[in-house]
Amino acid sequence: ELKNEYKRIRRILPFANADAAVILGSGWSDAFDLAPASVSLSYSKIRLLAGPTIPGHLERLTFCEYIGRRLIVFMGRRHFYEGRGWEPVAFPVYLAARLGCHSVLLTNAAGSLRTRLQPGTFMLIRDHINLMGGNPLLGIHDTFWGPRFTDQSCVYDDQVTEVVLRAARHASLPLSSGVYAAVSGPCYETPAEAAALRKLGADAVGMSTVPEAILAHAAGLQVIAVSFIANITGLSRKTTSHDDVLSATSAARTRMSAILRLIARETFDGR
Ligand code: HPA
Repeated sequence: ELKNEYKRIRRILPFANADAAVILGSGWSDAFDLAPASVSLSYSKIRLLAGPTIPGHLERLTFCEYIGRRLIVFMGRRHFYEGRGWEPVAFPVYLAARLGCHSVLLTNAAGSLRTRLQPGTFMLIRDHINLMGGNPLLGIHDTFWGPRFTDQSCVYDDQVTEVVLRAARHASLPLSSGVYAAVSGPCYETPAEAAALRKLGADAVGMSTVPEAILAHAAGLQVIAVSFIANITGLSRKTTSHDDVLSATSAARTRMSAILRLIARETFDGR
């Protein structure tokens, strides 16, 4: 199905290849300051990406030139919890790989598990723990995604991580780093679950990003991922709602744009 969808939409894509892909999660959709000349395609025209709109996702695929790089920008993603399997989650990465992108930047909103990660701050993902209860590489082996048993010892390149952190410090943009745990959702965490995730070594938790990171790394792409810390999760007597997550992200839009620009500048190679 990934291949068929690609064949179907290839004809309407404005370019045949690109340098990097960006997948923007909850609240990040309008954080990229894109050139007005960008070409956009609504997700409603892409069978695998079409679906009910999640507030905070613009549901558009945009092609643009950005600081001299050709980018494909996915404004909104599909999630495992939507129950349509892995293909809608995998398609953006598949498309990026087919278009020759060498890099993918993933963003999300996440819940904090540490007092050092306060809501309103950003965390560059150093490593992840997949607790989704599934894996996008399950199933019949497709060599498109590399070997059957694919290495995951360095999904997020240490050197790239250090380059981004150093550039953020240099630009006086607060950016911490940590381990992201992916759960299926759609529930937020109980206090006991948050305590368990902390013990496992996670710093933040969310319902996305890890499947795309697994696939992109397996396909040989450089992976950079950043979480916006929207809330502290699993506090007893302090509820979490998607509206709270979105209002936190909209308050941070200017800083989100600055972080995206910084990462693009430091890590997306042009040709
Ligand atoms: N938990 C899981 N996913 C999330 C959270 C959270 O607290 N906030 C945003 N996405």
